[in-house]
Amino acid sequence: MSNKYYITTPIYYVNDKPHIGHAYTSVATDFIARFMSLRGNDVRFQTGTDEHGLKIQKAADASKIDPIHLCNKNSQIFRDLTVTLNLSNDDFIRTTEKRHIDGASYLWNRLYERDQIYLGEYTGWYSISDETFYNEKDLIKQDDGSYKTVTGGPVEWIKEKSYFFKLSEWSKKLLDLYKNNPNFVNPASKRNEVIKFVESGLNDLSVSRTSFKWGIKTPTDVDHIMYVWLDALTCYANGVDYLDDSKSHLKEYWKNVIHIVGKDILRHHAIYWPAFLMAADLDIPTKIFAHGWWTNEGNKISKSIGNVIDPIEIINEYGLDQFRYFLLREVPFGNDGDFSKEALINRINSDLVNDLGNLCQRSLTMIEKKRDSIIPMITKYGEHEKSLKKSSETVLIEGSELINEFRIHEYIKLVWVHISRVNKYFNDNKPWELEKINEEEFLNVLATTAEQIKNIAFFINPIMPDTSKEILKLIGIIDASFTFDTMNRTNVNGNKLSKIKHLFKRV
Ligand code: MSP
Repeated sequence: MSNKYYITTPIYYVNDKPHIGHAYTSVATDFIARFMSLRGNDVRFQTGTDEHGLKIQKAADASKIDPIHLCNKNSQIFRDLTVTLNLSNDDFIRTTEKRHIDGASYLWNRLYERDQIYLGEYTGWYSISDETFYNEKDLIKQDDGSYKTVTGGPVEWIKEKSYFFKLSEWSKKLLDLYKNNPNFVNPASKRNEVIKFVESGLNDLSVSRTSFKWGIKTPTDVDHIMYVWLDALTCYANGVDYLDDSKSHLKEYWKNVIHIVGKDILRHHAIYWPAFLMAADLDIPTKIFAHGWWTNEGNKISKSIGNVIDPIEIINEYGLDQFRYFLLREVPFGNDGDFSKEALINRINSDLVNDLGNLCQRSLTMIEKKRDSIIPMITKYGEHEKSLKKSSETVLIEGSELINEFRIHEYIKLVWVHISRVNKYFNDNKPWELEKINEEEFLNVLATTAEQIKNIAFFINPIMPDTSKEILKLIGIIDASFTFDTMNRTNVNGNKLSKIKHLFKRV
């Protein structure tokens, strides 16, 4: 099996303002990508912006500008967000780029040639805010007789000529796929929802529009533009040149593809996307993971309520790594979660300041003061030292298994169990007393603690990449390559510390 992995995050609607949901999908995907690199996988990570559709055309019309100008301006905001969040993405794709338009057209042609697309007329409900067609049974009837989608958006009745994709013909193949690959849709609860939906019967899918222009023209009929989801989903394949006939080396990444998405867009990824690919005789992704949604202090986040959480404001107030830690630690990945400042502050003060910050501060300050900043040598592996070593090895082995199952918050818990063991080792050995009675033991405790602080710095790298670097710098390691292999090979004993400073501020 190839060691190359392709990890993706959904591309953001360019018309939205960045909010906590965008930050969450991105940071969680970044965690997975960084963790897999850490354990030696060759990872490619892509994000980007979704720029076509009626919503954007309407917004551009309202401001009397060309849609592409609006897209250029807004796409840059999301590109800046990737920097603000310290994402390790290798690529940022825009659906208005030539490589994307060519790839989407390539898929259309393959579907057309295989007789998977036919011309008809669409009459039914459409939600502009979700850019999604709905069956009436999946909508919520309001008191005034109108309908709303589960995400709260209005729907309108549309009637227009449209090409259809023969989705209904793929039900059996899709159900076989879920049955034969139980890990295709994760978590299991979401997999069951998908299966139920497919079992309830699939209609053919309208895949083109004629009532507006802002989209990719279908290559077989220039009067139609592609349905924005057919267009957008191909971004994943286009980022690794999979939908062209070139000999690009990036195609190798299409062998192991992991899509991380929010639960609201699981249907598009777990049903439409593999159906399009199978119908075009192309390879499908390996796994899809659907995460939950955040609420704000118990309330659904919505523009109309005005309780949208701006990730940049939180980062400016509390710090990036604090925010990343909170998002990943607070809620089991896959579940819904509630954002509150109180919960964020508790996590910062207890897990970061008390547990991690204090461990580094106390032990390294002792090395600074008593040993002129030189980390002593480990001279003995007694019972306690051996058990710390074992605890650290457990993080490596069990941690990797947990991440294979996307159990991010449990991995973090495991790392924090290790941190508390190192804290306990330091406390129980009372180096401040040992110093006077047994110098060899005293130095051994400092050296062992420093060694474990190095390991912790690697363990937290996917969660808090800046803090990880900062800790390594404190213990004299600069420019480390972040792999567990390097961690095992790097020795800190004899290193000179750099000037000690607090890692986190108490709030
Ligand atoms: N453009 C589509 C994706 C196309 S992928 C080929 C889209 N964009 S989005 O900007 O609306 O959403 C981006 C991501 O943010 C999605 O994974 C979505 O689930 C996630 N979130 C949006 N609001 C959210 C919360 N309140 N909480 C958590 N994540 C949510 O969908």
